Amino acid sequence: MTLLRPDIAAMAGYVPGFQPPDAERWIKLNTNENPYPPSPRVREAILRELGGDGEALRKYPDPGSRAMREAAAQLYGVPVEWVITANGSDELLNNLIRACAGEGEEIGYVHPSYSYYATLAEIQGAKVRTFGLDESFRLRDFPARYDGRLFFLTTPNAPLGFAFPLDYIDELARRCAGVLVVDEAYVDFAEFSALELVKKYENVVVTRTFSKSYALAGMRLGLGIARPAIVAALDKIRDHYHLDRLALAAATAALDDQGYLQETVARIRATRAGFVAGLQALGYRVIPSQANFVFAVPPDRNGRRVYDALHARNILVRYFSDPLLAHGMRITIGTDAEMEETLRALQDIG
Ligand SMILES: Cc1ncc(COP(=O)(O)O)c(C=O)c1O
Repeated sequence: MTLLRPDIAAMAGYVPGFQPPDAERWIKLNTNENPYPPSPRVREAILRELGGDGEALRKYPDPGSRAMREAAAQLYGVPVEWVITANGSDELLNNLIRACAGEGEEIGYVHPSYSYYATLAEIQGAKVRTFGLDESFRLRDFPARYDGRLFFLTTPNAPLGFAFPLDYIDELARRCAGVLVVDEAYVDFAEFSALELVKKYENVVVTRTFSKSYALAGMRLGLGIARPAIVAALDKIRDHYHLDRLALAAATAALDDQGYLQETVARIRATRAGFVAGLQALGYRVIPSQANFVFAVPPDRNGRRVYDALHARNILVRYFSDPLLAHGMRITIGTDAEMEETLRALQDIG
């Protein structure tokens, strides 16, 4: 007797970016974390929730994430029934597939973008179809009517950093017969969001993470904005206590401190501009980025060579062996000091 589902036994599984155990020895620019700490209010809220002796942890958290959802609803100008919380936006992506795509049904996404969509679909036994990009970063061969159950649009795109224009996303929403998931993991670093499309179309879902702009990757927090019917379905299939008490306190405090968020985002965007100018001075090609990372292409178009040379200098960036991406690297924007050191290393490497 085989104990496992044959497809699960055969699947490769997703490989996340490397998390070195000795992180303090590295300039870590490989998983798009924030180089700054979360809002000081987050720490205060966690300590308040914990109390002197950790008493609060004795009891289950609020299964409905009410305070966090109210804070998000107020911020985004939607009713609270339009907000779903998540244990990292990955949980939401997973549950969207579980809620919408049955075995053998199709989901689509852009290649290159976030390949975890494919792993999640594989677990569900759903089929995957990818669409490439043309020179002007529009989808190649996307049908007038796409009838997959879900289509994932990562914007700003990871790992390339560009954002799809709003009128194009609007058009895609109309061309999708199923749900259009706009994965806005990096949108706080961008110039605009597709949030208004959730109000316009019943098939649009926007997903957000706290791992990047809110500097809470270690806490595992995300949220989605969608019509109540979709939120209700996602609510039914999630773990009932998916967010712990400390995470809920952290998320609510982070959402309530928009001033801090805007400050951090402005710093990262300013560093990004300086880093891009430095890269260009070294002869690199850089795709204009709306995110907290850049996709940088060295003059010899050999991403692996530069990745290895940076690695030898304890600078960790992300290299993808995929033929569409092997000519460059994705580099997270860190502090000014980290990016200056990275530029010096790149100059040295040549
Ligand atoms: C495009 C995209 N979506 C979703 C995620 C997952 O984010 P989270 O940490 O909230 O699960 C990532 C993480 O890198 C990402 O790049």
